[in-house]
Amino acid sequence: MAIIDWRQQHGDFFDGGRALVTGGAGFIGSHLSEALIDLGTSVTVIDDLSGGDVENFETYRERAGDKLNFVEGSILDADLLKTLAQGCDYVFHQAALGSVPRSVELPVLYNEVNTTGTLNVLEAARAAGVKRVMFAASSSAYGDSETLPKIETMPVKAKSPYAANKVGCEALMRAYAGSYGLDTASLRYFNIFGPRQNANSAYAAVIAAFASSLIAGEHPVIFGDGEQSRDFTFVDNAVHANLLAARCEKAIGGEVLNVAVGQRVTVNELAAMMAKLLGCPELTPEHRDDRAGDVRHSLADLGLTAGTIGYEPVVGFEQGLEPTVRWYEAVTA
Ligand SMILES: NC(=O)c1ccc[n+]([C@@H]2O[C@H](COP(=O)([O-])OP(=O)(O)OC[C@H]3O[C@@H](n4cnc5c(N)ncnc54)[C@H](O)[C@@H]3O)[C@@H](O)[C@H]2O)c1
Repeated sequence: MAIIDWRQQHGDFFDGGRALVTGGAGFIGSHLSEALIDLGTSVTVIDDLSGGDVENFETYRERAGDKLNFVEGSILDADLLKTLAQGCDYVFHQAALGSVPRSVELPVLYNEVNTTGTLNVLEAARAAGVKRVMFAASSSAYGDSETLPKIETMPVKAKSPYAANKVGCEALMRAYAGSYGLDTASLRYFNIFGPRQNANSAYAAVIAAFASSLIAGEHPVIFGDGEQSRDFTFVDNAVHANLLAARCEKAIGGEVLNVAVGQRVTVNELAAMMAKLLGCPELTPEHRDDRAGDVRHSLADLGLTAGTIGYEPVVGFEQGLEPTVRWYEAVTA
């Protein structure tokens, strides 16, 4: 399903390897698992299916054969994690409860899954002696600081329990590298989008939510004036960053690295582009009140990521939007 030919990008580096992908039945985790399998790595996925779906394996389950081992379980089960991490070269930690507004409603649950769960993942990785842990961090760490672009050296300003969990876990990643010599990397994703991103949840990310409305013939809803902007990042870029981080020859030492495209698109522009791609330009957005906690603008500086793991985006925003929209059309048909 990727636009990118992973072999061309990563050669035979992952051939014959073993990886644990937490949250691998989710949107990003399923793409990452698919890429690893296509690169010859055996992947164990642990996912409790609270947000993911085994349907996300549908397009590659057959091709994967015994290279895909799906275990329905929680990252709160420390013993299970320890068993699954044994013999793995890498751990890609994608599992989390993801919605910012829901984290405001349920801060204790979020802390349990997102923070204690991450600690369990680190403990399992340490016990197994894996080569590196890649952590799905979030650009929400920057809060509503107005400085653009966002650079990793800026102070963190978590505005929600979800963002606070992610920032805390970045600190844990660094601490495990410093205290136990377990190499780790925190990849701060900026608005990742693409096929398999859930559009049915009340908390769907904006591209998924717009697709769902437009395909149903409804006007997309924009909170605020729509001039807020985001560094929308096609999922292959996040997969690529994870693979590059795993391959990095030098220790990463818990460094925090932005993962994005480095281009800013407003929500109004996005709605217009999507309506055009879906052949319904008359479905202009309906504006509602601003949502509390929403960040006004977001744009990543990618200098540190480029310098540390050699990352450059491999798929541009518009290049990624087209197959994404087609995927939503196909699954809704
Ligand atoms: N999508 C984005 O734009 C974005 C941006 C920044 C960070 N992230 C982070 O990237 C990761 C993947 O996000 P996604 O967009 O693919 O979301 P997703 O909800 O599709 O994937 C998360 C997966 O984690 C699983 N999960 C949740 N709790 C679990 C538990 N206790 N045990 C095992 N599995 C559990 C869910 O079932 C789901 O499959 C998350 O950590 C998220 O916070 C995503």
